[in-house]
Amino acid sequence: MLVDNYSRKFKYLRLSLTEKCNFKCSYCLPNGYKGCSAKYLDLNEITNLAFAFKELGIEKIRLTGGEPTLRPDLIKIIQTLKEVVGINHLALTTNGFRLKQDLEKLKCAGLDSLNVSLDSMQESKFKEICGTEKSRDIRYSIDHALRLGFKNVKLNCVLLRDLNDNEFFDFLEFAKSRPVSIRFIELMKTGDNKSYYERHYLPVTSFEQKLRESGWEQLASTSVSGPAKEFYHSNFAGRIGFISPYSKDFCTTCNRLRVSSVGGLRLCLFGQGDISLRDLLQSSDDRKRLKVMIATALKLKPQSHRLNEGLFGDMCSLSAIGG
Ligand code: 5AD
Ligand code: SF4
Repeated sequence: MLVDNYSRKFKYLRLSLTEKCNFKCSYCLPNGYKGCSAKYLDLNEITNLAFAFKELGIEKIRLTGGEPTLRPDLIKIIQTLKEVVGINHLALTTNGFRLKQDLEKLKCAGLDSLNVSLDSMQESKFKEICGTEKSRDIRYSIDHALRLGFKNVKLNCVLLRDLNDNEFFDFLEFAKSRPVSIRFIELMKTGDNKSYYERHYLPVTSFEQKLRESGWEQLASTSVSGPAKEFYHSNFAGRIGFISPYSKDFCTTCNRLRVSSVGGLRLCLFGQGDISLRDLLQSSDDRKRLKVMIATALKLKPQSHRLNEGLFGDMCSLSAIGG
């Protein structure tokens, strides 16, 4: 089992499959993806990586990006992680643009759960925030995912002052009859969005208060719940959650490790630099050394990020490593 110097246990890995994205979310890639074409980890490297993490006690892998559905070999990656490596819980974070056509294939390949970004219920507002008119299709896909039996369907909504902060009750309405978990995420400041952050950052506390006043109750957190605070209400099939990276105790429940699309182990989203694992991903003969490297690196995981001191590490945008 992977444990760091602060007794935090790690059973959950977030693996980025690509930095590329085809959306232009105004807080992330306002001008679209402009990077050079890096050589992303291939199936063999991903398989070696996943075996090592599994042997170190990782039970869940979340595939993220950029936009992971842009990888042409995504279905093969999912099948391999489930059937060959035997990962218990395989999740995907996506902007949802391909779900309409891909959902059934993803389900058949063995995907267990889905996290879909949905920053607005209104098509014109969605376009203003994400650069494309897809919110109706995405809502359709969410219903389809529920029909196909996906458990743990989560929606991520980045809370943005003067953009989507008037849609709180529309999101609640969506959760009325659907067993989804809607999570409002506080906007995070990155290297690329400083002035946007000043204009649109809004703490989630006002939403949280509205929710409590309407009779919602907080769920007890478990060892796997991570940093989201979740609420339930007996009249609603869905749950509402809040992710507030700037709150005091955010890091004490951190249960996540990240690997970038080129094999860099990132100990904290807002840290400085990655530790490259790539040399040890080429052959399964290196698995022992890889495991030692990961376990040793984990001892360097900082106790907390330093966002409150204005330090957000070397992260330019979340498309580089996933949220
Ligand atoms: N602040 C908060 N959330 C962000 N995401 C991307 N960039 C930011 C940011 N600066 C979110 C996406 C997606 C998840 C992977 O991370 O909207 O839901
Ligand atoms: Fe793409 Fe996600 Fe960034 Fe939006 S937030 S531009 S969907 S990587």
